[in-house]
Amino acid sequence: MKNLIVANWKMNPTSQKEAEDIFSKIKEGAEDASAEVVVCPPFIYLSLLKGLTLGAQDCFYEDKGAFTGEISTAMLRDLGVEYVIIGHSERRRYLKETDEIVNKKIGEALENGLKVIFCIGETGEERDAEKKKEVLERQIRKGLEGIESLENVNVAYEPIWAIGTGNNCGVEETKESIDFIRGVVKPETRILYGGSVKSENSGDYIKFAGANGLLVGGASLKPDEFIKIVKSAE
Ligand code: PGA
Repeated sequence: MKNLIVANWKMNPTSQKEAEDIFSKIKEGAEDASAEVVVCPPFIYLSLLKGLTLGAQDCFYEDKGAFTGEISTAMLRDLGVEYVIIGHSERRRYLKETDEIVNKKIGEALENGLKVIFCIGETGEERDAEKKKEVLERQIRKGLEGIESLENVNVAYEPIWAIGTGNNCGVEETKESIDFIRGVVKPETRILYGGSVKSENSGDYIKFAGANGLLVGGASLKPDEFIKIVKSAE
């Protein structure tokens, strides 16, 4: 099983030129990587970028029809997109995505042959109240309800308090969460860590916390830094 390193560009950058520049640098640096590298740009750049595995940052749960503004998994497949991030905490928070919506999206994505990066994670308050495991288990059980095969499901453990804060989760604590998640999903399911990953800490998650990959936000927009992260996972 290869380690999976995912670049989540979020709502960045703001021009096609910049997107192409960042992408081509990543492509060059990641060419001989032994890890699997996936870049997830905003939807509108997906057809522009070629030469690396692409992922979308979201999808809708219907194939087509009267759903203004939405993008379907069939459309993504047609563009050659292989992965889709589902259930990111920013979507749960700002777009009010529930576990039920996440579950429908995962089902639809798998049915259309996309590989899923299923995000879960606790808030700082839930962690302080010692509710982490309860929250993670609920997100997994509801998110994967009725999903028969986990073959194309990757779980990304992203503690919300660690995302974009520079305050990455310690290796010991991450290991404890990953071990717990592994007990709820299948032993062979790839589990990624995400939350303020940078090249100084990235290798430790793979080597010491048992992560099978990383979901990288901010640092994935800096090609040199992202390539260092990719290499640290080898
Ligand atoms: P970050 O974001 O690396 O900027 O913390 C990670 C994510 O939200 O996927």
